Amino acid sequence: MALVEVERVWKSYPRRAGLKVEERAVVRDVSLEIEAGETLGLVGESGSGKTTVARMILGLTAPSRGAVRVAGVDLARASAAEMRRLRCQMQPVFQDPYAALNPRMRVLALVTEPWAIHGLNGGESAELSLLARRRAKRQRMRERATALMREVGLDESALDRHPHEFSGGQRQRINIARALALRPKLLILDEPVSALDVSVGAQIVNLLKDLQREHGLTYLFISHSMPLVRYLSTRIAVMEAGRLVETGEAESLCAHPREPYTQRLIAATPELPAVAQAQAQAG
Ligand SMILES: Nc1ncnc2c1ncn2[C@@H]1O[C@H](COP(=O)(O)OP(=O)(O)O)[C@@H](O)[C@H]1O
Ligand SMILES: [Mg+2]
Repeated sequence: MALVEVERVWKSYPRRAGLKVEERAVVRDVSLEIEAGETLGLVGESGSGKTTVARMILGLTAPSRGAVRVAGVDLARASAAEMRRLRCQMQPVFQDPYAALNPRMRVLALVTEPWAIHGLNGGESAELSLLARRRAKRQRMRERATALMREVGLDESALDRHPHEFSGGQRQRINIARALALRPKLLILDEPVSALDVSVGAQIVNLLKDLQREHGLTYLFISHSMPLVRYLSTRIAVMEAGRLVETGEAESLCAHPREPYTQRLIAATPELPAVAQAQAQAG
């Protein structure tokens, strides 16, 4: 069983057409699977429906038709408790590295918030006074937050600062740390480097590669850039106007694209410098 199974999914939104309101399908009959440990690249032009597919996998948007299963659980039938458990197992990282971070919170609070929400603390001894227990818990949170910072290439001092004190690339590292806090199996990466400079994006892409190797993570990597998708993915699914037009092993799909649309995506390669830099940095 694949970790994620998307089966014949449609998504429609109402749209005003003159005096009438009609349904417009923005995702049409999409089926795909993501195997544990792989990176599935989802590529397509802006507006092709990639984010809508991501939101349906995350359970943030319900499909109009079809089914999404994560770890064998049909999201439409999941109980609240099952949904909470699945939300710990899959975490999103979005394009805009600033929008996802509450500007009033310090990084320590931002990266420990998932633990507070999901009640992941425990371990303190009942012998201690309430005050001592609180202090011990705070210290443990800080230690774990420091470890997370190091994993994404930041140091402990980052914990005491606010999001606006960081560059775009550093903010995206904080978002990744937050996404990793609950030790998820699956990251849904929706254009995570599209808002960043080429060299900064290349560093983030390599960080994602390293984290995947260390933690055996599964990725859905979404981008409009074929070179970036090719660099990271084991398999690639190509979306055009709401439909999947082609799916295959990354190398063979790029070497022998069947669809004219895929050929056009490969020919339009403004992000090639980013990939060259990522490869150079990775050594
Ligand atoms: N909540 C919504 N209501 C109406 N239309 C939407 C909504 N979300 C997305 N769309 C439309 O669906 C289409 C696909 O959007 P999206 O999934 O964001 O594409 P992509 O991520 O590939 O750029 C676009 O035409 C967009 O305008
Ligand atoms: Mg999008």
